Amino acid sequence: MSNNVRPATMERITTPELAHAFIDDQIAQLRAQIGDKKVLLALSGGVDSSVVAALLIKAVGKQLVCVHVNHGLLRKGEPEQVIEVFKNQMNANLVYIDATDRFLDKLAGVPEPEQKRKIIGAEFIRVFEEEARKQENIEFLAQGTIYPDILESGPVKSHHNVGGLPQDLKFELVEPLKFLFKDEVRVVGEALGLPKNMVYRQPFPGPGLGVRCVGAITRDRLEAVRESDAILREEFAKNGLEGKVWQYFTIVPDFKSTGVKDDKRTYEWPVVIRAVNTRDAMTATVENVPFELLQHITDRITHEVAGVNRVLFDLTPKPSATIEWE
Ligand code: XMP
Repeated sequence: MSNNVRPATMERITTPELAHAFIDDQIAQLRAQIGDKKVLLALSGGVDSSVVAALLIKAVGKQLVCVHVNHGLLRKGEPEQVIEVFKNQMNANLVYIDATDRFLDKLAGVPEPEQKRKIIGAEFIRVFEEEARKQENIEFLAQGTIYPDILESGPVKSHHNVGGLPQDLKFELVEPLKFLFKDEVRVVGEALGLPKNMVYRQPFPGPGLGVRCVGAITRDRLEAVRESDAILREEFAKNGLEGKVWQYFTIVPDFKSTGVKDDKRTYEWPVVIRAVNTRDAMTATVENVPFELLQHITDRITHEVAGVNRVLFDLTPKPSATIEWE
């Protein structure tokens, strides 16, 4: 691999003007590198891969093949937004693969968090590899590597990283964001015309809702995670907390408690709300969410989400808890 140190002369990208200069420069470089060949990209819909996709669409158009794998653990509306933005609006060459059944079948009955992550990571590579084999004349693999990934080279992105492809599918890497920090990627994303909610979205783990459906994942409990998460995000957006709170989501643990509805006893899951702030995800503090808002969200979740009769708020900072529950 070529040089992995950010050039000392590289100015921090803080304004639209600087972003456009970066974009023009990258387009020229990408065209020179790629020529008339084809490039493959695993497009998750996260900030980094979305910005890489938008850059490459500008640079090489239909020579880019985006593959969006829906592992069934995405948030409500995410696959739809990827298709709308990239296929319908940007006219990208997008392959959408709904692999929900494959992932959920493999995950059925597996309670252990690291085992769940391994299954999701391995299955992701398998699905991507199958698609890569169907595509002809691919010579490059684009990745949304950013500078902190190189500096830390920690485990956080391991499962996104499709570098695990077999030897005969080792493509030359295209990593246009590899010297950028996250805030710079967002400025570039906005300059490329990506929707604000895509560019400023909160971090979302590669194993997705899978680590928030605690223990062995079942389809009905996973739906409770997805639906309660959608309500939480909608209410945070309505109440000015979107973009202010670093990460917020819901968890559904694998146990039930009694409740009462329409004069009948129920025996259903609790939903846990987590909302935290952090600089580097190594430590985190809990957001002081207004009590009335928590009550309103509780009311909505217990009325709108099937199988749920109770809502809790996680008051624990990191440490002692991690941000995710698994
Ligand atoms: P924890 O739970 O370790 O999380 O305090 C710190 C940050 O990392 C995210 N996270 C993950 N991201 N793959 C990812 O891409 C993972 O397996 C994973 N586990 C945790 C978490 O959402 C938080 O932002």
